[in-house]
Amino acid sequence: MTQSQQNIIDSTVAFVRETLQGAEGGHDWWHIYRVWNLCKTIAEKEPCDRFVVEIGALLHDIADAKFHDGNEELGPQVACEFLMNLGVKSHIIDHVRNIILHVSFRKRNNNSFKSIELDIIQDADRLDAMGAIGISRTFNFGGYKNREIYNPEIPAKVGMTKEHYKNSTAPTINHFYEKLLLLKDLMNTQTGKSIAKRRHQFMITYLDQFYEEWQGRS
Ligand code: ADP
Ligand code: NI
Repeated sequence: MTQSQQNIIDSTVAFVRETLQGAEGGHDWWHIYRVWNLCKTIAEKEPCDRFVVEIGALLHDIADAKFHDGNEELGPQVACEFLMNLGVKSHIIDHVRNIILHVSFRKRNNNSFKSIELDIIQDADRLDAMGAIGISRTFNFGGYKNREIYNPEIPAKVGMTKEHYKNSTAPTINHFYEKLLLLKDLMNTQTGKSIAKRRHQFMITYLDQFYEEWQGRS
């Protein structure tokens, strides 16, 4: 990494911390910080452009559409303007723009852009949705939306999607079956796969204990 690249990373950290002040606890600066660290761990094992990985990780949720009236263009736009003002080269800005556009779980079936840097950031973002941290983020989001924790009258199993709940809002536990338990099979890199395995197992153990406690059995 050159000194000028390091300066750009430092400026980006300051910009992201400032911009995400007051964000929901699962999508705040500390989510970005964890994803950034995971990216560094994964990048040690993958030949990649480390600068693009770090900048992409730092900017990947700068304006998440779900907190901005579904506007998918805002994040890439804010990131591009910020990087342009810092004089970052246009091919790097284009790459970061594509990373932000394609990183999300919601866009997992859209493979129109591929790069190892995107693969790394996507793995890191998904890993932060798993394990102990993933569980914390999920219940924080459910609380933020005032959802039930669990409702035994609403089935919770893999394969359930939003369409199954029609007249009710899904309890937070259902998010495990809609997304969290599917993530281990979506990892791109070897390092991602091995970390995901541990985090997945932790969620399974957590759910087993959760249902035992729900019945008053444990
Ligand atoms: P992506 O941007 O990859 O689609 P999200 O930002 O939607 O991912 O999700 C990140 C995390 O936010 C989830 O892993 C979960 O912890 C929390 N979250 C998002 N949507 C929900 C939901 N409907 N219920 C509970 N938690 C959620
Ligand atoms: Ni994210």
